[in-house]
Amino acid sequence: MTDWHFPIVVENHTGLKDMAGVLTWLSTESNGFKNQLATSGAVLFRGFPVKTAEDFDAFASAFGYGDFSYQESLSNAVRINHTARVFSANEAPPDIEIFLHHEMAQTPISPEKIFFCCLSAAEKGGATPVCRSDLLYATFKERYPDWARLFASLGLKYMMQMPAGADLTSGQGRSWRSTLSVETVSEAEQRLATLGYTWQWQEDESLVTRTPVLQAVKALPDGSESFYNQLIAAHLGWKSTGSGKSDMLTFGNGDAIPEASLTALASIAAEFTVPVMWQNSDVALVDNHRVMHGRYPYSGSRKRAVIVCLAREQ
Ligand SMILES: [Fe+2]
Repeated sequence: MTDWHFPIVVENHTGLKDMAGVLTWLSTESNGFKNQLATSGAVLFRGFPVKTAEDFDAFASAFGYGDFSYQESLSNAVRINHTARVFSANEAPPDIEIFLHHEMAQTPISPEKIFFCCLSAAEKGGATPVCRSDLLYATFKERYPDWARLFASLGLKYMMQMPAGADLTSGQGRSWRSTLSVETVSEAEQRLATLGYTWQWQEDESLVTRTPVLQAVKALPDGSESFYNQLIAAHLGWKSTGSGKSDMLTFGNGDAIPEASLTALASIAAEFTVPVMWQNSDVALVDNHRVMHGRYPYSGSRKRAVIVCLAREQ
């Protein structure tokens, strides 16, 4: 691919110096950026005076999308809120790579847009890779039409383990109480039943859940199709719950997913992935339906601070 602009980069050419100026500018320009997002899947804003979580909250709010709060989500990552809308991207330790995924595609409730903001870039590493899932799926379909048909027709079921208490050493360590917004076992079971999940309590009071059948391929408004699922993250990164990694993600009918198809997907994804090399004050707007993201490991004494704001179309 030589003719794609991904992500689109918007720089502060007019030299806006404060957030009041930025918000006035966005009040006339944000619709144009939303249109660019619809075709490119990601827009990176660079060089604007976004210094704090509050600045970022105001920047993201200027686009007029609906709120999508961490509390109401079924995300399994541990996060810390900075403002009502803004929270840490993922509290997983620096040496852990977070593999490409669509935010919360392993649950029935997921955001349509994601804003990222870099308040402090890592000394070394820590880029956010972004990958065009529509191009990935078009290529996969062309090279492996039989596998593509299976994914599209059968959908997927995800097994998730939710610990009894928050596990900060894991990229997926959110407790079941927090994940399900409940206090008691019976409230948890009620919530799971409403969502169509099945579940099993473990001896250590953790919970193993299985989703209803979720689609693996999503039709996008422009007629393209996105590989909207967590296959790559699951294949490369998820810890086994004990019964074997292949149990964690199956086709919707319970059949095992061929290992070779996952290897092929991970390899095609690399063709459509670009790392966002963060600079302080960067804001990236990503279409979560078209684009996957991840996080490369990082190191150094300076703390990497990348925060996010999730949003609904409206
Ligand atoms: Fe994420």
